[in-house]
Amino acid sequence: MEVIRMNNLSYRYPTTEEYCLKNVSFSIQEGELCAIAGSNGCGKTTIGNIIRGLIPSFHGGEIEGTLEIFGKSSKEISADEKAKRIGFVFQNPFTQNSGIKETVFEEIAFGLENIGVGREEIITRVMDIIEMLKIESFMYKHPLELSGGYRQRVALASIIVQNPEIMVIDEPTSQLDPKGTEEVFEIIKLLNRQKKTIVLVEHKMELVAEYADHIIYLNEGTVLLDGTAEDVLANEILYKKNLEMPQVARLGFQAREKGLMIEKVPITMDGAVKIFAKYGKCVKDGGGSHGES
Ligand SMILES: Nc1ncnc2c1ncn2[C@@H]1O[C@H](COP(=O)(O)OP(=O)(O)OP(=O)(O)O)[C@@H](O)[C@H]1O
Ligand SMILES: [Mg+2]
Repeated sequence: MEVIRMNNLSYRYPTTEEYCLKNVSFSIQEGELCAIAGSNGCGKTTIGNIIRGLIPSFHGGEIEGTLEIFGKSSKEISADEKAKRIGFVFQNPFTQNSGIKETVFEEIAFGLENIGVGREEIITRVMDIIEMLKIESFMYKHPLELSGGYRQRVALASIIVQNPEIMVIDEPTSQLDPKGTEEVFEIIKLLNRQKKTIVLVEHKMELVAEYADHIIYLNEGTVLLDGTAEDVLANEILYKKNLEMPQVARLGFQAREKGLMIEKVPITMDGAVKIFAKYGKCVKDGGGSHGES
């Protein structure tokens, strides 16, 4: 089932002449882990803000085209229904904190209190999420004392705990080191296995290649590519236009240019090892380099 559909959407902010989204169309199916990818400034966060309804109501500007969520025009979905069914994790974790709660535990519980969940259930649900995100050691700390990386986890926790059907997560690891990044992505994968639809806004291509089922690749406000991770990230157009792509995919195209006719361009490290291992073996056994006589 289709859960989000954007049709020919164009948008410009009130302060700019130029449209930052131009004729954007895509659809996202229930249960997908869909990445909105593309380099800085291509319009990813703006798409997130349109889905949330902050554009145009809060930001203003000019908008054309349509957006459907859960099969209905987004205009017909009340703010209340949206808040229950769609969770948003902002790009900047410093803006997500409520600012009124004194501990991480209370901060995570805040959204549940708001919708009138009972005390016992709040405690169970919050503790489950705290364990899942491995933040037990600072659950009694003040949210504003945390570093960016931990705030990012708390922001994610406070959305997961509300159990929304769709989660829109904007660059969840911008403040995290590689280990923290992997941990957060494992959690996102777990949520996705629990049938949540995840819209992941992300420009780190290695992560997108590893985790996304579906990628909508934006370039300068238009959809350049839309398809499976392999279709999109191993597409020659990214290489030719020198756009962001996984390092191993770039290496694959460079190898082809040098005459190494690999059958497939890899998008992940594991994929690259499999593809290139064949040639390594050939050099070791035969003693000569492949592709040249
Ligand atoms: N409030 C605003 N007013 C005017 N222009 C804006 C505003 N917010 C974003 N823009 C511009 O709109 C374009 C798209 O911005 P957006 O934040 O959606 O990109 P992004 O893909 O999320 O980038 P990043 O990877 O840096 O987060 C950029 O050119 C940006 O400068
Ligand atoms: Mg952004």
